[in-house]
Parts: sequence; C-alpha cells; structure tokens
Amino acid sequence: MARTYKIQVLPGDGIGVETVKEAVKVLSVTEEVTRGLNLSFHEFPCGGKHYLETGKEWTEEAKRFSQEEADAILFGAVGWEKSPGEPVRREDGSMAGADVVLGTRMRLDLYANVRPVKLYEGVPSPLATRQPSDIDFVIIRENTEGLYAPIRGTLQRGETAESAVDVRVITRRGAERVSRFAFNLARQRRHGAPADGQQRVTCVDKSNVLDGCRLFRRVFEEVAQKFPKVMPDFAYVDAWAMWCLRRPSYYDVVVAPNMFGDIISDLGAAIQGGMGVAAGGNIGERHAMFEPIHGSAPRHAGKQKANPIAAILAGKMLLEWLGDKYKDRHCHRAAEKIGFAVAAVLSAGRTRTYDLCIGSYADVEPSTTGQVGSAVAEAVRPQS
Ligand code: IPM
Ligand code: MN
Repeated sequence: MARTYKIQVLPGDGIGVETVKEAVKVLSVTEEVTRGLNLSFHEFPCGGKHYLETGKEWTEEAKRFSQEEADAILFGAVGWEKSPGEPVRREDGSMAGADVVLGTRMRLDLYANVRPVKLYEGVPSPLATRQPSDIDFVIIRENTEGLYAPIRGTLQRGETAESAVDVRVITRRGAERVSRFAFNLARQRRHGAPADGQQRVTCVDKSNVLDGCRLFRRVFEEVAQKFPKVMPDFAYVDAWAMWCLRRPSYYDVVVAPNMFGDIISDLGAAIQGGMGVAAGGNIGERHAMFEPIHGSAPRHAGKQKANPIAAILAGKMLLEWLGDKYKDRHCHRAAEKIGFAVAAVLSAGRTRTYDLCIGSYADVEPSTTGQVGSAVAEAVRPQS
C-alpha cells in the first residue's frame, strides 16, 4: 500500500484563499487519476485576518502540524488590511501573518527558496523580443539569514524613532548549503541555459562593496570546485538586474543572498508574465513549503479575479519535491501531468485571468479564478 502524503494547506489571506483552493482542486483531480498517489489535505486558517479575529497568526495546532506531521506545506499568502491602506500589524509594528511564512522558513530551516522563471507558450512577457524558449532559469534565494536574520532594532527617544538597524548576517554554513543546492539543481536540470546549453550557476551579490557578499562568493567558489561540469558565473546584483532583461537566455540557475534574492525574483516573475504565474518552494533538508509568490493583494480579494496558475504550479513543485525526497515516481508522474495541463491551458489561450488578457490576448474575455482552476483540472484528467 502506497503511503499517504499529508499536505498542510495554509491559504492565509486575500487572494491566497482563492488561488490555493484551485491548487487543491487540481491536486485532488491529479490524485484521482494517478494510481499509486495518495494525498490527504489538512487545512488550517492563518494570516492577518485571523490575527484580527483571534489575536493569533495561526493556532498552536497548525504550527505543531507544520513541524511534526506535514509531509509538505502548501501556503497561499499573508497580509490583511483593517481598512484600505491600513495593514493589520503585530504589536511590534510588523505585518500580522509574517510568522506563518517568515517564521516557518526559520523554524523548519527552509534554507533554499527556489523560484523558477519560465516563460510558457501563450503568456505575454514584457520583454517584447523574447520567446518562451529564451526564458527558463531558476533563482535560488538564500532563505534563513542575510537581512532577514531577526537581528534588528530601533532607537526610540520617547515617541521619536531616532535610528534603526537591521544586521545582515552571512555565514559560511548558510552560503555553503545554498550554493550546493544551486549546483545540484544545475546538474539535475541537464539542459543548461537556453542560450548555449551550458549548465551554469550565477552568483549574484555585491562583493565589490560588502564583506558578507565577499564571504558568500568565496564559499560559492569553493563549492563550485566540486561540480566541474557546471560553469560558475558571477554578477553584481545591480548589473544582474540589467542582464536579466537584456539576456535572460544566458541564465540557468542563479543564487543570491536573501534580500537580493527577494528583489530579483520579482524581476524574474515579471519577465515570465507576472506574479500570476510565479511559484516558489521553500526547501530544507526535511521540510518544504510551496507558495505562489503573488502575496495576498487585499484589493483583489474575494473577486475571483486572481490568477491561480502560480498556486497550481506551486502544487506541481510540491509533488516534484515529494518525488525526489521519497524516490516516488508516482509523484513525479503527477507533477508532469500538472505541468502539461498548465502548458495546454495557457497555450490554448481561451481560458485565462485578466492579467494575461493583454497583447495578442487583449480580446479574450477574462475567466474567473475558479474557471482557470477547473480548466487545468480538466486538462489533467485525460492523462490517466
Ligand atoms: C516573498 C515575500 C515575503 C518576503 C514577505 C511577504 C515577507 O515578499 O516571499 O518574497 O519578503 O520574503
Ligand atoms: Mn518578495
């Protein structure tokens, strides 16, 4: 009897609720038509709205489940508003719901934030001269240190904040494991960069200025020695922002410290057609959490407008990770089905949310979140 994977579902706030629902719909149909794949879904409320209602970002039980029971986590988004423009905040002024995402990354030691940048056929990119075959790389963002290390503080004089510091921590261990992750991925991808077929890992840093980046790069170079077939490559983050637009096809795998990775992965999302199609995985040695990276977008919430493709692709990544971890070909086969289904729906062109009804698709009547989810699920079904 095949094992049943426990998937913790954390829709969270705003459009996360709507898009994760479609991801679960697609995963459920995929499970139905994939003999040997058994998933159980365990959904928990969380996020800023939950905080507003209960005073907690999520329940102790939900947190415990993430640490002790879940085989993988599917997360939507957090961040809610009390009224337009007024975010729900924790007592220290930070975003309510952050513990679910940032806390979990730390707690479960999810050190590699994996953000594929792939332009699908049928998705308009703002890079007018680029074809889908030009854009297919993966950004690996270090996910547990850098500027996100919780070492920060504000000097208050009475009511006045006089100064504030955020300490950026780069460790040898952190740089080593994320670099190794990137090189392993490049080796596994086989096809290399679209431009030249070379397996390549680009280290994106600011080592011309920052000590932390010099350490990051030095450790990256040490790791590179162990992967003779993969070409190490280097770019300063400011220059990379330019090169990402000018020659995206040169990139295969890109690795960066936490905050730089955060910023450049939004750039990556833009060139692959926007936040509506950009998925990510937060991966550690034992645990992993997958998410659409679009955020909660309170002003679009509840309107059935948001694009569920990112959340659906997060579900695909979740299956790939389970497949790798447990050497389970059923998971890999299921992930492939979702990939084909997404590609089919996007290239057919008729069923798409408003964000993709642009360029040569400007005349298409936008579909709802649910319609796109159902279209992908129906495209999975015949692949049994
Ligand atoms: C992301 C997001 C988060 C981050 C926010 C919501 C805290 O921007 O996943 O990229 O900064 O990591
Ligand atoms: Mn971000």
